[in-house]
Amino acid sequence: MARTKTSKAWMREHVTDPYVRRAKQEGYRSRSAYKLMEVLEKDRLVRPGMTVVDLGAAPGGWSQVLAPLVGSAGRVIALDVLEMAPVEGVAFVCSDFSETATLERLEKELAGRRIDLVISDMAPNISGVGLVDQARSVGLAELALEFARDRLKPGGSFLVKMFQGSGIDEFRKQLAESFTTVAVRKPKASRDRSSELYLLAKGRRSTV
Ligand SMILES: C[S@@+](CC[C@H](N)C(=O)[O-])C[C@H]1O[C@@H](n2cnc3c(N)ncnc32)[C@H](O)[C@@H]1O
Repeated sequence: MARTKTSKAWMREHVTDPYVRRAKQEGYRSRSAYKLMEVLEKDRLVRPGMTVVDLGAAPGGWSQVLAPLVGSAGRVIALDVLEMAPVEGVAFVCSDFSETATLERLEKELAGRRIDLVISDMAPNISGVGLVDQARSVGLAELALEFARDRLKPGGSFLVKMFQGSGIDEFRKQLAESFTTVAVRKPKASRDRSSELYLLAKGRRSTV
């Protein structure tokens, strides 16, 4: 009974959500697309010709935003453990980011290019056990950071989804060691009641 009520409430919120409606009207696959648009509007992270890696890309909303911005001289490589319908101008790798073989597949798509921007909207499947979910989420963010550290050009940027909770302060410190600035972004499209936030690290240092 409780479950029915919850799903009804979810459905009511979903159909009345202005971002869900807008996404439908404007042809975006996710309301998340508006979160990235807001961050990009403020921080101007993407320019034509850039190489961007989109981690946790399915169903493809962020990739849809990125592809026209980098243009035909740029490259967007999207990755997800779930399948995703093709997005024009975007290369897609379907693989679990926590598996070593995935990095090899990404390397192959990169074909020697250094990356200008790594973005990660990866979120673990929710178990309902708060501490477990938070640890998994921080674990994914750490994997994304490791990749960004290895593959970003000096000066490159990293945007990563996190959830407010344990491990986040330590993670921010790790970011500050490798990037010149670290800021928190909570786009309007991110629901107020959600503890989700984005950390934006800019200016990959060349030495650390
Ligand atoms: C919130 S959704 C991303 C939405 C996307 N940014 C968009 O705009 O369409 C989070 C995604 O992270 C993916 N994900 C979670 N863990 C992953 C992993 N270990 N490897 C690859 N993808 C993962 C999920 O499959 C899910 O599609």
